[in-house]
Amino acid sequence: MENNKRIRRKRYSGNYPKKFEEKYKEQNPLKYEDTIQKVMEKGNTPAGMHRPIMVDEIITFFDIKPNQIGLDLTLGFGGHTKEMLQRLNHTGHLHGIDQDPIELVKTKERLESFGYTSSDFTVHHLNFKDFNQTNVKGFDFILADLGVSSMQIDDPSRGFTFREDGPLDLRMNPNQGVPAYIRLLELSESEIRGMLIENADEVYAKEISKEIILERQKGNLCETTKAFYNVIAQALKDVSINIYEDELKKAATRTFQALRIDVNSEYEVLFELLDKLPNYLNPGGKVAILSFHSGEDRLVKKAFKHFYNNGIYSQINGPLIPSKDEVYHNPRARSAKLRTAIKF
Ligand SMILES: C[S@@+](CC[C@H](N)C(=O)[O-])C[C@H]1O[C@@H](n2cnc3c(N)ncnc32)[C@H](O)[C@@H]1O
Repeated sequence: MENNKRIRRKRYSGNYPKKFEEKYKEQNPLKYEDTIQKVMEKGNTPAGMHRPIMVDEIITFFDIKPNQIGLDLTLGFGGHTKEMLQRLNHTGHLHGIDQDPIELVKTKERLESFGYTSSDFTVHHLNFKDFNQTNVKGFDFILADLGVSSMQIDDPSRGFTFREDGPLDLRMNPNQGVPAYIRLLELSESEIRGMLIENADEVYAKEISKEIILERQKGNLCETTKAFYNVIAQALKDVSINIYEDELKKAATRTFQALRIDVNSEYEVLFELLDKLPNYLNPGGKVAILSFHSGEDRLVKKAFKHFYNNGIYSQINGPLIPSKDEVYHNPRARSAKLRTAIKF
């Protein structure tokens, strides 16, 4: 009878792992091309990857020539950079900036795996407002694809999503500033309300800010994404049951966005960037900026108009939006707006 114990079949979590740590791609997404293809055909973004948005429109606008010098201010997964490097075809040089020290290293290695070397591109761990620290005096084309990458959103340890539990952090550069839950402790009720309205037009700003302070008084410091989500859920308790789920999802999305903008000082750094840009463009140099919400787009529009009216930019265009086909295949593109400018 000994050794006659039934050996239970090992249970696997299935073909479609649910947890971030179990997914195939974080270590080396490009190793799994078949899976990636299937995920993308369904209109999803494979975790650990970011799909570049409005590539054709951006590449057509830049019309890159051999030996040009370019700058990608938001390297991310390197999708746009790879396309631009292809156009340069081992001539000229491309500088890539990102403030995320975690993804930057992986992206550099990925670009090298495509055969690009230090003579083709240089990566810089910088906030884009400090892009002049690349020590390049004039660029022929500059791209900024604002916001966060899919890799950042998908990784619960970064705290960008309420769909999974993780620390309420939301910093693109975890070595700089304070995590979001500390920031929330620093703000008063009216400051939180102002932040929610200014950064995300949050319709339940009053209820949410009030609930955050009530919870804080009870000792709930909202240290995790789920704890914070539950506070938002509680704040919306008087919303009609028929629309509650939908309203909660939207309010949580906006609230996380507002907090992310605050924690990363997104408006301040964008303002500084837009102000500096024309000084580092060669004559005829081109700039393209992809934004994802009205607050960002307003800043870009205003700055471009200002420099156009002052004879610094010869042309400004936009906003262009992604094609229906692109949005169908990549729903994360749905709120993108592209504005472009050309230096005199
Ligand atoms: C939307 S993703 C860019 C994706 C990229 N275009 C691609 O094709 O993979 C935005 C990236 O910009 C970075 N980023 C956002 N704000 C930044 C800033 N102020 N300075 C530097 N990098 C920033 C984020 O860390 C993120 O990696």
